[in-house]
Amino acid sequence: MADIAVEASEVPAQLPHARVAVLGAGKMGGILLQAFLKQNLFAPAQIHATVAHPERAVALSAQWGVDVTTDNLAAAKDADLILLGVKPFQVPDLIADIKPALTKEKTLLSFAASVKTRAIEDAAGLEIGVIRAMPNTPSALGAGAAALCRGRFVTPAQMELAARIFETVGRTVIVDEKHMDAVTGLSASGPAYIYIIIEALAEAGVKVGLPRDTATQLAAQTTFGAAKMVLDTGYHPALLKDAVTTPAGCTIDGILELEEGGLRVTLIKAVMRATERAKQLAAG
Ligand SMILES: NC(=O)c1ccc[n+]([C@@H]2O[C@H](COP(=O)([O-])OP(=O)(O)OC[C@H]3O[C@@H](n4cnc5c(N)ncnc54)[C@H](OP(=O)(O)O)[C@@H]3O)[C@@H](O)[C@H]2O)c1
Repeated sequence: MADIAVEASEVPAQLPHARVAVLGAGKMGGILLQAFLKQNLFAPAQIHATVAHPERAVALSAQWGVDVTTDNLAAAKDADLILLGVKPFQVPDLIADIKPALTKEKTLLSFAASVKTRAIEDAAGLEIGVIRAMPNTPSALGAGAAALCRGRFVTPAQMELAARIFETVGRTVIVDEKHMDAVTGLSASGPAYIYIIIEALAEAGVKVGLPRDTATQLAAQTTFGAAKMVLDTGYHPALLKDAVTTPAGCTIDGILELEEGGLRVTLIKAVMRATERAKQLAAG
């Protein structure tokens, strides 16, 4: 897939003093890094990112205008806030790499699925603040959903900084760590489920005679509008559904098909399966 372009914003620089390392600037790390730059949260000089492949480091450095290398230790030495963005099974090796650079004054912010704050604290071998985040890809457009939880040594100021960072790329909630795998199964994997729903609705539009572009636009805008109704009104989704469902109208016929096809149960099972898988990822 092509890189996801990040939307610009006019928000002024807010964190001029923090030095940030994004270790593992892949899909998610790259989205966050670009969003931070576009939101003017950090200046390019404040950020040092790393990836595994030197040629990718060179390309990304040119693309983003920030220092991108393969040297995790150097990046971590220079940073106050260290984002861990490698695959879950790679986190222990990454912590071992950067251990000499870690001090109690730094903050580790991991967005690797499945990896517990306790495991990161233990690997770091000191009482360092570890925050776990679970963002999702719509962060690229400032429409992300992220959950944060705190490790044992996180100060209120560290948590506030992390929340502020994620609020610039979307909606942020703070949860107990026991909920992080569920968040992974729901909102981190969730965009994929919704894309399938949008794709299916667009196919349906084509089936009933709409041009594909029109059908896709209508399907996506309808999904967006329904989500906005839930978020902005605070009404229960069932109440909003009832408002669309005229007695003996056409919507109730559509709902009948959805219920018969098991959409509701299928979505519940999808989140349950993804949550179960999220529990295993740290083990590789
Ligand atoms: N994708 C999502 O929607 C999403 C959502 C929430 C959380 N996450 C979490 O984000 C993390 C990354 O997922 P992703 O989808 O972004 O995967 P990804 O695109 O494969 O990114 C992983 C990045 O880590 C780099 N890397 C690998 N080993 C490294 C090392 N030793 N030192 C420095 N960098 C290294 C890779 O470098 P190269 O590019 O050179 O290979 C790559 O850029 C995972 O832990 C995942 O659970 C992802």
